[in-house]
Amino acid sequence: MPQGLKKGFAVLGIESSCDETACALVEDGRRVLSNVIDSQIELHRLYGGVVPELAGRNHVMAIDRAAKRALADAGADFSDVDAVAVTCGAGLVGCLLVGVSYAKALAYSLGVPLVAVNHIEAHMCANYLGTDAEPPYLCILASGGHTAVVHVAGYNEYSVLSSTVDDAIGEAFDKVARTLGLPYPGGPQIDRLSESGKPVYRLPSPLLKNGNLSYSGLKTAVVNLMHNAAQRNEALDAADLSASFSRAAIDPLLSVAEKHLKRLGLKTLALAGGVAANGYLRGEAQRLSQRTGIRVLLPEKKLCTDNGAMVASQGYFLLAEKGVNCDLTLNAAPTLRLRGDKPSRR
Ligand code: KG4
Ligand code: ZN
Repeated sequence: MPQGLKKGFAVLGIESSCDETACALVEDGRRVLSNVIDSQIELHRLYGGVVPELAGRNHVMAIDRAAKRALADAGADFSDVDAVAVTCGAGLVGCLLVGVSYAKALAYSLGVPLVAVNHIEAHMCANYLGTDAEPPYLCILASGGHTAVVHVAGYNEYSVLSSTVDDAIGEAFDKVARTLGLPYPGGPQIDRLSESGKPVYRLPSPLLKNGNLSYSGLKTAVVNLMHNAAQRNEALDAADLSASFSRAAIDPLLSVAEKHLKRLGLKTLALAGGVAANGYLRGEAQRLSQRTGIRVLLPEKKLCTDNGAMVASQGYFLLAEKGVNCDLTLNAAPTLRLRGDKPSRR
């Protein structure tokens, strides 16, 4: 455990990288005192996906309310905040700027440290919330913007072992759902439908020879299957297609993770990111645990999708181990990568 911060150190985490305005107060990087998520999903559903300008404008309207509600829910006020952590990237620039500007003003006015947090790293920290989990572990990071198998060697030490070379897995879930005529965001809809389906359709594997993944081909194969069936006036079973797609997308991710676990002798596998809320992925990870004795960490579903608590947690561990990592010149970094990731992996 990192030392150096007083016991009960409270970090206000602020997240506004996409379509959730989220603020949370977290003590010692683990104890969630409040977790407010003001979601814009209903607004963007009208357009079938996130409209960046609308998202940015809505963050402006929601952020102060969300921060104040996070403090009220925790029975705290601004004087109880020991540090402010904010997602500075990756994400939509207009959205990130709202959180970053708010966090800068707040930290300055309260006279407390400001910590810049990488959204992708924050997702992995959801595994510390309400648990005693500690690095090292292997993490399957599966979200709408990223897909990777990451070796988490320390609270701030990440190295990407395998990753997608094109689309993220969540993007593929959303695209398949959209082609099936399901509302945004499609991941949870496919998840629900696949429970009653059978994996009867043959689909290509996203696994590449070098251990990386490519979700664009799988996504296109499903879309083509649907278009070809429509041209022949054939009806495809949406539940069976959802089950087939879920397995095709998720099984290779788990098998590649298992190989890395064995190779590195790691005993813990964690899930992170929005797709970690997926029932099939969670079930298969638990089966892997029963089969191999590997400990599996499954964050609460609400902590898998975007939230402020994960940002507060990564902020805490950054401050505790590395000290203050930014000043009031902090800017949004829309294309920020994970530390330890390499630019090209094809
Ligand atoms: O982590 P997240 O909230 O935002 C990003 O950082 O991208 O992930 C959102 C993604 C979306 O693509 C959404 O469809 C997917 O996570 N997702 C799911 C489920 N819940 C959310 N995908 C599959 N099954 C789910 N239950
Ligand atoms: Zn996210």
